[in-house]
Amino acid sequence: MASKSRHAEGGVFNPTPLFSKRVQRWEPGAIRSLLPLEATPGMISLVAGKPNPATFPFSKISVTLDGPKPETVVLEGAALSEALQYGLPAGNGALIKWFEQLQQTVHSLAKPATWTCCVGNGSQELIHKAFQVFTDPGEPVLLETPAYPGVAAFLRADEHELVEVSSGVDGLDPSDLETTLSKWPRNRCLPKVLYTVPTGSNPTGRSSTEKNKAKILRLAKRFNFMIFEDDAYYFLNFENDPLKRARSYLALEQTVNGETGRVMRFDSLSKIVSSGMRLGILTGPKAAVQKVVQITENINLQPSSTTQILALSLFRHWGYTGFIQHCAKAADFYRRKRDAFAAAAERHLKGKATWEVPTAGMFFWLTLRLPPGKDSFELLSKKGIENGILAIPGMAFLPNKRKACQLRASYSLVSEPEMDEACRRIAKLVDQAWKDAASGPKQPDTDRRKLVTNQNRSDATRKEQDTKHQTKLQLPESANLKIQGTEPSSFSG
Ligand SMILES: Cc1ncc(COP(=O)(O)O)c(C=O)c1O
Repeated sequence: MASKSRHAEGGVFNPTPLFSKRVQRWEPGAIRSLLPLEATPGMISLVAGKPNPATFPFSKISVTLDGPKPETVVLEGAALSEALQYGLPAGNGALIKWFEQLQQTVHSLAKPATWTCCVGNGSQELIHKAFQVFTDPGEPVLLETPAYPGVAAFLRADEHELVEVSSGVDGLDPSDLETTLSKWPRNRCLPKVLYTVPTGSNPTGRSSTEKNKAKILRLAKRFNFMIFEDDAYYFLNFENDPLKRARSYLALEQTVNGETGRVMRFDSLSKIVSSGMRLGILTGPKAAVQKVVQITENINLQPSSTTQILALSLFRHWGYTGFIQHCAKAADFYRRKRDAFAAAAERHLKGKATWEVPTAGMFFWLTLRLPPGKDSFELLSKKGIENGILAIPGMAFLPNKRKACQLRASYSLVSEPEMDEACRRIAKLVDQAWKDAASGPKQPDTDRRKLVTNQNRSDATRKEQDTKHQTKLQLPESANLKIQGTEPSSFSG
């Protein structure tokens, strides 16, 4: 918890001039916009097509919490009806309040006068909607690179120009960002959004320093863009001393820029409570959060009531202290996994790969020492699968698709013996690549290179080429690796 100082709210940036054209076209949902009035005392509501809970086939939901003395959270009566019924598009009011209080505690925010939270079906859904609020298809967006492909994929589908901003050991590089924006052609609109994963980045495992975050916040003010802070791994930080952890963009904004309103922060319960419950939280300027909620009420109505009420019951049971303690336990679990993977990499990959030990999250980003001209995509999709090793090739994390020698290895689920064997197999792949290079290529891979670079070919040609190539490699369908380098959505996560 980074509560160094609780700042008072100063100037407030108004983000509405940055809103997209497309978001202006959404109208308030005719039914959802009346739902809050149902709580007015004495109101008789004939509004919603809500089912009568008397027809629901459940009498109780009971969840037993893990721990030395297992405790049980039970939903019945009114709480059960609420959990099984439609709710509000922004999410359950009490849960939103809980998160707003959490954000005040964790990020030292002032009371939510100009900012607010809403709940979504996972943070990714909220990120997607937030992009709709601020960008129109085809517009340029700034992406920390390597980038989380779950986001790059939907941006690519909307034909956004993906402007790569490099990251280094200290996270997103402010000087690269400054260079890009300073050289931006005067006749073109500047990007309105920078997307970054500042803690235990997916895929690099790197975390941005406070110094870099401060510089980036200043650039946001100077070049007038929003920062999308996707902090899915915030609570899986391996730095034990909370005061040594970099504070979030949300926490730093007021101090650095003397105003708030440029940060849209995305938190996720996926990595700390349950990914199947699909709960994410957006914290940002009220006007922007309200637009996200408007998209929800028109598209998927609301996040799941059932999982929200379960989460709320759990959080009430834990309290803020219990929540933070639980997150610390989860971080400790992954810290031990990270240490075990680092030890396995030391044993097998020295001289064959380089890596930084991640400071948070779930990923090692290995740079393989491959023969010139070789890349990890080719290696993993051919020899990797044959040798029983699956990992995501670096190319999947480069928004504009290039050959890469990196791979992302996730250590969240594998046991220590599996880590050891995985690193041994990766080492074997690297050795084999050098042997193959020495004995001369059996089959030139020019076909595939053509496929990677020829982004503009027609759909029909693409299908034909891909099918041909898949047949040649005999990739099992379940491997789900597309040869032309556009990552399938299963790379998300
Ligand atoms: C950086 C990042 N953002 C967002 C997500 C999606 O999170 P959620 O499950 O909350 O949608 C993931 C999932 O792995 C992720 O790594």
